[in-house]
Formats: sequence, C-alpha cells, structure tokens
Amino acid sequence: MGLGTVGGGVALALTDHANSIQRKTGFSVNLRHVLVRDSEKTRDPAPPEGVLTTNPEDILADPHVQIVVETMGGDHPAGEYLQRALDAGKHVVTANKEVMSRRGPDLMALAQKKQVNLLFEASAGGGIPIVGCLMSQLLANDIRSIRSIINGTTNYILTQMAWHQASFADALAEAQTRGYAEADPTNDIEGIDAAYKLSVLGSLAFHRRIPHHAIHTEGISQLGPEDFRYASELGYAIKSLAIAVVQSNGLVQARVHPALVPENHLLAKVDGVYNAVEVTGDLCGQIILHGQGAGREATTSAVMGDILSIVRTMGSANVPPPLPALDVNGDDTDSAV
Ligand code: NAP
Ligand code: HSE
Repeated sequence: MGLGTVGGGVALALTDHANSIQRKTGFSVNLRHVLVRDSEKTRDPAPPEGVLTTNPEDILADPHVQIVVETMGGDHPAGEYLQRALDAGKHVVTANKEVMSRRGPDLMALAQKKQVNLLFEASAGGGIPIVGCLMSQLLANDIRSIRSIINGTTNYILTQMAWHQASFADALAEAQTRGYAEADPTNDIEGIDAAYKLSVLGSLAFHRRIPHHAIHTEGISQLGPEDFRYASELGYAIKSLAIAVVQSNGLVQARVHPALVPENHLLAKVDGVYNAVEVTGDLCGQIILHGQGAGREATTSAVMGDILSIVRTMGSANVPPPLPALDVNGDDTDSAV
C-alpha cells in the first residue's frame, strides 16, 4: 500500500534482491498488488506490469496476500486498512509512525489475537534498527532514558543552516526534494513527527503507553541565523532532541525541542539526514545507534528487514536456511556462492 519514496524503494528491492531473498529465507516473495491514489501517474522506476490498483479491496480481500506492507502514511485510511489486514489474518509491516503512535497498542493486541506479525521498524529512526532492538535484544533491561535525534528533515535543515548559512526555506525545499520530508512537512519542522516516533520508542522502552499528545513538543521554525551564530560562538550545536527519561517518582518525562548541545557531545556530531538514538538501560549501560534517518534506501532496508523476518517465520522456525559452503578457491563473492 503506497508507492512513493518508501514503497517505491521496497517494490524495487523485491525485484533487485529476489535471488538473495530466496537464498536467505528459503522463499520467494511475489509482489501481487500495489495500492496508489493515482494509477495514471508516471513513475520512475515503472512498477511491475499489472500490479497497480486504486482499490484497497484488491489487497484486503485477496486470500493469496499473506503480507500487507503499508507505506502510505497518515492515520486515515491507513489505520483502518491495517486493522482490516490483521483481522483477515495477514501479517503487516508498516513504516507509519503516526498510526503506530495513535493505534499501536490496539493493533499489536489484534495481531497477537490473530497470531500474525505486526512489524514497524521503519516507523522510527529510518535505517537504524532501534525498534527491533528495544523489542528483542534490549528487552531484559529496565530502560532509564532515551536521548535522540529522530527527525532526518529537521536535522538536515539545522545542519544546512549551521554549516552553509542556508535559509530555512531553501533547506526545507532540499529535504523535500531528497524525499526526507513528510507529505505535510509541518509534522517534521514542528516536532510532531519526532513526537510520534518518541511515543513509539518510549512505549516499547518503558512498557507503558506514551501518547504523543502528552509529549511536550516544540519545532525549529522559529530559529534564525543569529541563533546559529551565538551557539557556535559559545561552543554549542543546535539540535532538535527527542528525550524520554524515567524520573525518580517513576513517571516518564518526554519532550521534543531544539536544544544547545555541547560541540564535543556525540549528538552534536550527528549531521545531515543522520539520526542517533542513545539508550541507557540498567544492564546494557549506554548504547548509541547512529545511521541514516530518512530517505528511500535506508528506509527500504528497515521495511525489507521486517518483510524478510516474517517470510522466515513462514518456515518451521525463525532461522535462516543453512549457509552454502564457501568457495574454497578463494572467491567468496556473492555470485560465487
Ligand atoms: P510518499 O512519497 O508521499 O508516498 C505515499 C504513497 O502512498 C504514494 O504512492 C501515494 O499514492 C500512496 N497513498 C497515499 N495515500 C493514499 C490513499 N489514501 N490511497 C491510496 N494510496 C495512497 O510518502 P513516503 O515518504 O514514502 O512515506 C510513506 C510512509 O513512510 C509515511 O508513513 C512516512 O512517515 C514513512 N516514512 C518515510 C520515510 C522517508 O524517508 N520518506 C522514512 C521512514 C518512514 P500516489 O503515488 O498515487 O500519490
Ligand atoms: N520525515 C521523516 C524524517 C521521515 O524526516 O525523519 C523518516 O521517518
């Protein structure tokens, strides 16, 4: 569902990586339908012949569709489609932070009831595997805090303004051209997109609902060139931070806002479309994950990872097929095996 920046990348990867998908999972993945608003639009690359539809029923009511991948964005109608897909017993992968923030707990309960997967790695952090990390590898920890940069558009704009004295409007236009921004970039520049993501990450980390409307949210649209000049003179970078901390009374304080970050701090060095998430847990201590936070390829990596991990569970166990033997003649390139 959706063939824009993210959906287009996923459709392309399903074709380009078809052989390696088969090798890594033991299954092949067949793209049956792609839901779009406008099936007449010229698309680059062109989608496979005959897959485009403007009717969601082609997907939701097709018993052969086992996995629904949603990359449309927005709460409505995407949220209803996901609920119907799960209800019909289909696995779901989504890149939609708004839906997961607003309806995540209910959709997860439905997925559990229907014994299907609902995976949403791309909903926060772009290509950084932070969602899966919180859901599995860090699960044993009592997480104490998340400090992060989780909006690529905002960080791109702040970097362009600080380094190249770009105007806010020019930097935003460039982020839109590169496919980083939301359909309505207000969500990016006013901190709303980061609040949705912090709601998703915080809910997983602290095992309680962190509603996005309970998060103090300030954007970056009020910043001007003088702010960057003063910050630099004083030895700071300006970053839009998304922070959730468990306080001594046990309550979680969550906020998104621009902040002065000392230039020698790791988060001050996260530039351009890159994101970083620092997690502090009682067992793992402090972990920082850093990577591309938006854009076609990085997000496709996250969505494809979810798809492949579901495909793998369609076998008897969630383990990859046995690895082929290395070519002992020394050529261990992909094509050799
Ligand atoms: P996009 O480029 O605007 O693409 C949206 C796609 O969904 C388009 O193909 C559009 O169809 C289709 N669509 C939208 N509403 C529809 C409707 N009501 N019925 C049928 N089709 C509809 O958006 P995107 O940047 O790929 O983002 C998609 C999702 O991924 C969002 O939830 C976003 O937050 C998330 N995400 C994006 C990024 C990124 O870097 N862009 C990264 C992580 C997560 P048409 O093509 O016909 O208009
Ligand atoms: N608009 C979002 C961003 C896309 O700029 O971070 C990735 O979720």
